[in-house]
Amino acid sequence: MLARLQDEIRRNDGWISFARYMEIVLYEPGLGYYAAGTQKFGAEGDFVTAPELGSLFGRTLARQLEALPYPILEFGAGSGALAHTLLTQTHVPYTILEPSPDLRARQQARLGSRTQWLERLPESIRGVVIANEVLDAMPVHALAWRTDGIMERGVSFADGRLIWSERPASGTLLEEAETIPVPRPYESELGLIARAWMRELAGRLEEGVIFVIDYGFPRHEYYHPQRATGTLMCHYRHQAHGDPFAHPGGQDITAHVDFSALAEAASGAGLEVLGYATQAQFLVNCGITDVLGEANIDNALHYAPLAAEAQKLLSPAEMGELFKVLAVGRGVQPPLAGFSSGDRTGTL
Ligand SMILES: C[S@@+](CC[C@H](N)C(=O)[O-])C[C@H]1O[C@@H](n2cnc3c(N)ncnc32)[C@H](O)[C@@H]1O
Repeated sequence: MLARLQDEIRRNDGWISFARYMEIVLYEPGLGYYAAGTQKFGAEGDFVTAPELGSLFGRTLARQLEALPYPILEFGAGSGALAHTLLTQTHVPYTILEPSPDLRARQQARLGSRTQWLERLPESIRGVVIANEVLDAMPVHALAWRTDGIMERGVSFADGRLIWSERPASGTLLEEAETIPVPRPYESELGLIARAWMRELAGRLEEGVIFVIDYGFPRHEYYHPQRATGTLMCHYRHQAHGDPFAHPGGQDITAHVDFSALAEAASGAGLEVLGYATQAQFLVNCGITDVLGEANIDNALHYAPLAAEAQKLLSPAEMGELFKVLAVGRGVQPPLAGFSSGDRTGTL
């Protein structure tokens, strides 16, 4: 991986954007974190996502999906955990779009013939689209607002090591960065690729709903004066740290999601914002307590792990508050059950 990066940087006059760096270390065929065969998910891997905790998240989400009788298209299905649960709860056709050949192979081994896999985005979509912890894994551009100008933070090579190096920002990146009011000096990220993904998908959605579930904020919180070092986060063997140059290709790199930008991209393509809420509020609205109530509470062996799972999904100190659910769609009558109480669309 280091040789690959060194070559790429040399061929580009000694500098690549952080987005390009992130694309290579996460997705380069055969080498990237998501494209090579390491464990990644679950207790043996680097991080745990909501569907990896157990089936509670999927069974609760299924209650929302019941009211939307569309085929399901899941983006970036990881180990296939969410699909595995949803397939037991619904009978609609289930399709996955997974760019990583290694993960696709694992999903195929786990899920079998009721699921189909797509190579690329279909021309038009009538359905429910789900992206859980996918947008945070999309490459971001890194920016620095300095007292004397706005810089793009990229990656160079010096003394055999990867280092940050800055160039004046230009083009769309500069235009976008100039609209964000931050105190200087300030560093953060801009998700141009996530926005383009939403624009493209929204343009192809004839009828249905897109659910984006991830950690992130509305713009005014994302670029909060106190978040002056941005949101980049790396995950390596259940340790979260801030150095994207440690273990290139061997660790996950993520950035939080700017939900205002996604909502704008969707609205710009003619979609309606159907709801925006914290994960805890969304799951409560969908009836997570009823799902818990179906469990046998007399059997502690059965109930204790489920209660622990609920605690992780709902607690503000865990995933409940930082994780959000955004729903955008076309031709669907609001309100959706998941946003019946505590909808925060007004904060986007
Ligand atoms: C952090 S994992 C989440 C996996 C799973 N959704 C879960 O919740 O456990 C990120 C996933 O997004 C996929 N991914 C990244 N970029 C993508 C894109 N542009 N389209 C579809 N999937 C993508 C990765 O290959 C990986 O499967």
